[in-house]
Amino acid sequence: MKKTALMITMSAFFGLVYLLAGNITLEAAKPAKSKEAAAPRQSCVTCHPDFAPVLPKGHPPAAGKDIGACTTCHKPDVSGKAAANAFSARLHRAHEGKTDCVLCHTWVPGKSFGLLGQKLTWGKPSKEEMALLKQVSGTWATSTYMDAGHGKKNVTCMGCHGKALPAEGDSVENDRCLECHGPLEKLQAKTAPKDLPDRNPHKSHLGDIGCTVCHKGHKESAVYCLQCHPNFQMKLK
Ligand code: HEC
Ligand code: HEC
Ligand code: HEC
Ligand code: HEC
Ligand code: HEC
Ligand code: HEC
Ligand code: HEC
Repeated sequence: MKKTALMITMSAFFGLVYLLAGNITLEAAKPAKSKEAAAPRQSCVTCHPDFAPVLPKGHPPAAGKDIGACTTCHKPDVSGKAAANAFSARLHRAHEGKTDCVLCHTWVPGKSFGLLGQKLTWGKPSKEEMALLKQVSGTWATSTYMDAGHGKKNVTCMGCHGKALPAEGDSVENDRCLECHGPLEKLQAKTAPKDLPDRNPHKSHLGDIGCTVCHKGHKESAVYCLQCHPNFQMKLK
């Protein structure tokens, strides 16, 4: 009788140990997997033993193992200004899908998103927000949408979205678009049809409406006028 009770106690004990051990391995495996910063960082040298062949013609020589080889001269921009950035756009286009963001970036989920060797942060993306940033980055310069027209012309996320890192539900205000495409009067003059000047997408009885009513960033654009005037000949390029 006593022996069986002991055996039950013992098997329960080892069962518990087993369970605990299982949990410990699970818990130990989790952070290592998700904390990408903890994984050994790739080096530029793995793929570029010499930067000269990939740098623009006539570029001053650059040497180093990481993004620090570039940031000595190309100071990272946290200003949020509406401007193209060839250095940034070219680096992002070239490495999309080939390396992880943390080759060059530092990221502490919910706390900071910066650049290796630099004391700066563009924002505090959570894991979910980072997943969305990566998703949009993957198509920003290659989609069939408006983002790619900009990506190919070196307009990065910041060029449109400004200082704050874009997150779910974000859009872009007219004033921001007009910093590069304005003034509005000039845009209106450019798109006034010669034969039927009233059918101007940028000057109509709708007044001051959002640019993004028609021009979508990361999805199919559509001319809103056509919903009520299906016979108008208006097309987006
Ligand atoms: C996993 C491999 C890999 C790593 C690591 C890597 N690159 Fe690249 N890089 C590429 C590939 C692939 C291309 C595009 C093909 C090409 O032009 O050779 C490229 C292109 C470039 C270009 C040319 C961009 C342009 O204007 O076309 C530069 C500059 C560059 N890399 C710099 C770097 C720097 C700096 C690092 C380290 C922070 C780095 N690379 C790390 C694979 C890598
Ligand atoms: C010694 C200073 C210096 C270093 C280091 C340096 N650059 Fe440059 N880079 C320049 C200058 C100057 C220009 C031309 C002016 C400009 O566009 O900022 C330039 C221009 C560029 C351009 C062309 C931008 C355009 O207008 O198309 C790219 C791309 C570029 N650099 C990438 C890099 C990369 C990648 C690294 C690191 C591997 C790097 N540079 C390191 C000084 C430097
Ligand atoms: C090869 C290096 C490299 C890789 C890989 C890289 N970045 Fe960057 N990133 C930079 C540099 C350098 C800057 C700062 C450029 C500047 O301000 O001139 C930057 C800036 C940014 C910015 C802020 C400025 C802006 O235009 O919005 C965002 C957002 C960003 N990167 C997102 C990403 C994401 C997401 C990934 C991964 C999909 C990634 N980056 C991969 C080098 C890299
Ligand atoms: C940082 C400057 C900048 C900002 C901000 C900007 N654009 Fe552009 N946009 C450009 C450049 C550069 C091009 C390339 C063609 C050109 O040179 O005009 C372009 C092209 C376009 C085109 C024609 C080609 C295409 O890709 O469809 C449209 C339409 C357009 N932009 C609309 C917008 C709208 C709407 C916004 C605001 C949501 C906006 N842009 C924000 C710089 C900018
Ligand atoms: C031409 C300007 C432009 C550029 C460049 C641009 N965006 Fe956007 N983005 C927009 C507009 C406009 C919207 C509003 C939603 C839409 O029209 O797709 C938006 C929406 C977003 C959203 C919210 C999407 C959602 O599902 O709620 C995210 C996240 C985002 N952008 C990330 C980025 C990132 C990351 C980059 C750079 C890799 C980038 N954007 C570059 C114009 C731009
Ligand atoms: C009602 C829909 C609609 C709205 C709202 C709208 N656009 Fe357009 N946009 C169009 C159409 C249609 C075209 C193509 C017509 C053309 O090119 O003549 C166009 C063309 C453009 C072009 C390319 C012009 C060129 O040919 O060089 C730019 C840039 C542009 N829009 C920016 C903007 C900006 C900035 C806003 C907000 C202030 C805006 N759009 C609001 C429908 C719209
Ligand atoms: C919500 C519906 C609606 C939208 C969207 C709309 N309109 Fe209209 N529009 C009307 C109505 C209603 C009239 C007056 C009745 C009529 O003449 O068809 C009108 C009349 C007009 C007229 C004068 C009559 C004609 O057919 O020539 C023009 C020009 C016009 N709209 C241009 C535009 C343009 C350009 C846009 C997009 C920027 C636009 N509309 C978007 C509803 C709309």
